[in-house]
Amino acid sequence: MNLKGRSFLTLKDYTADEIEYLIELAEDLKKKKKEGITGNSLKGKNIALIFEKPSTRTRCSFTVACVDEGGHPEYLGKDDIQLGHKESVEDTARVLGRMFDGIEFRGYKQETVEKLAKYSGVPVWNGLTDTYHPTQILADFLTLKEQFGKLKGLKMVYVGDGRNNMANSLMIGASKLGIHFTILAPKALWPSEELIKECSQYAIESKSQLLVSDSLEAVAGADAIYTDVWCSMGEEDLAAERIALLKPYQVNDALMDLSQKEHTIFLHCLPAVKGNEVTEEVFERFADVIFNQAENRMHTIKAIMVATLGNN
Ligand code: CP
Ligand code: NVA
Repeated sequence: MNLKGRSFLTLKDYTADEIEYLIELAEDLKKKKKEGITGNSLKGKNIALIFEKPSTRTRCSFTVACVDEGGHPEYLGKDDIQLGHKESVEDTARVLGRMFDGIEFRGYKQETVEKLAKYSGVPVWNGLTDTYHPTQILADFLTLKEQFGKLKGLKMVYVGDGRNNMANSLMIGASKLGIHFTILAPKALWPSEELIKECSQYAIESKSQLLVSDSLEAVAGADAIYTDVWCSMGEEDLAAERIALLKPYQVNDALMDLSQKEHTIFLHCLPAVKGNEVTEEVFERFADVIFNQAENRMHTIKAIMVATLGNN
């Protein structure tokens, strides 16, 4: 599989085979790291890490993964560079593309990460925008694969804000890879019709079921229940409204029981607001799998950089 030179802006741009390849590469890199073996695939490569929004997992994953592979990461916070203050995205991209071999971007607009890719001429990786969070999905699916030994045919139910970056990206990834996927959310927070339509087509091709529902009965049969914060970064003012809308969709013991399966696991991309989208009890019961999921951010992000930019 040759992904050299490719950007990673949304999972829409990647085939099921390419996504599966990245997960397999991450498995291999994780195994090697546990054995104390790191590589030099990014030797001589300089990586820019642009963060308009804060981050723990994504920033640390890009930094550690880059250093593990012999590269040099450079953190560029929102107040450190001219982007968005005195310089256009197009000009910043053209400057960074002359100095760096790859660029990670986390921020608000999907349009920004797309412009960075278009104008820099180097691989650009989306570390989260308001619309998508594609690197997270690779870690989520690696975790699912470790838990169940497979992906195809599993059923995942995402509960909560059904139109945020996580819901959008999980829906794209799951429907491409043949994971039966349900978004359980109040109608006011359903994904866009356009994206549902697009993902329904992926689901037909992968022979999986895609459902959007506001009824808790949709949890039945779930192998994994997933949630995310009720207010994403930048939406803090909407807290009261969201709590009122989403209270019935909190992941608690009663909701977990609705799966009617013994082995159902709980996943969360983190950071979590315990007491809102998930109870402390459920969170702690699944702490091992949740923090393994967080660790898997690093192995999967390493796989993306190695595959798209690595020397070997
Ligand atoms: N899950 C995730 O992207 O975490 P950070 O916001 O800490 O990067
Ligand atoms: N939906 C969340 C994801 C955080 C990783 C946010 O955008 O804040």
